[in-house]
Amino acid sequence: MHAFIITLYLAASALAYKVISPNGSQGWTTTGPNSITWQRDSSTDPQNFSVALTNPDRSIMQFDNQILLALVDGTNATSAPVNPPSGGWPHGAGFKVNLLKDSEDVTSILASSDTFEIKAPNTTSTSSS
Ligand SMILES: *[C@@H]1O[C@H](CO)[C@@H](O)[C@H](O)[C@H]1NC(C)=O
Ligand SMILES: *[C@@H]1O[C@H](CO)[C@@H](O)[C@H](O)[C@H]1NC(C)=O
Ligand SMILES: *[C@@H]1O[C@H](CO)[C@@H](O)[C@H](O)[C@H]1NC(C)=O
Ligand SMILES: *[C@@H]1O[C@H](CO)[C@@H](O)[C@H](O)[C@H]1NC(C)=O
Repeated sequence: MHAFIITLYLAASALAYKVISPNGSQGWTTTGPNSITWQRDSSTDPQNFSVALTNPDRSIMQFDNQILLALVDGTNATSAPVNPPSGGWPHGAGFKVNLLKDSEDVTSILASSDTFEIKAPNTTSTSSS
């Protein structure tokens, strides 16, 4: 019983990558430039990761888990520019980026960002002035 709990704890604490941005207050825009910033624990974290964009709403993103960056070397940087996926940036709320251990396996999540917005330029904004 105790061994089981300790195993779970170790498994969770080994995943020390953390996404700093994008986040709820600092999202992305459809016009960019967009970037991702992260923290890494060099003693436990794998060297490389992939970045996938995800949104549960299929009317915002037709396909989930779009790979934005297939291979990022996490050892020597804390941020990377992110180019739009083919077809351009989707926009709306409820996005997350996942850091994946393996770009072929969308369940190999090392860390997830907060939910954030990808904003389109205000072409149809209702101005108050
Ligand atoms: C959100 O991202 C911005 C820009 O990187 C950063 O300054 C801020 O601390 C982040 N907020 C949180 C809650 O992590
Ligand atoms: C990480 O990526 C670099 C190339 O950027 C590669 O040389 C290295 O073998 C990779 N390391 C792992 C552990 O996959
Ligand atoms: C890390 O970045 C520095 C400065 O950009 C560069 O000189 C160095 O070669 C890089 N090291 C690796 C292992 O990529
Ligand atoms: C978008 O709307 C905000 C507030 O209405 C305004 O301050 C900003 O300049 C607008 N941006 C663009 C690109 O039109």
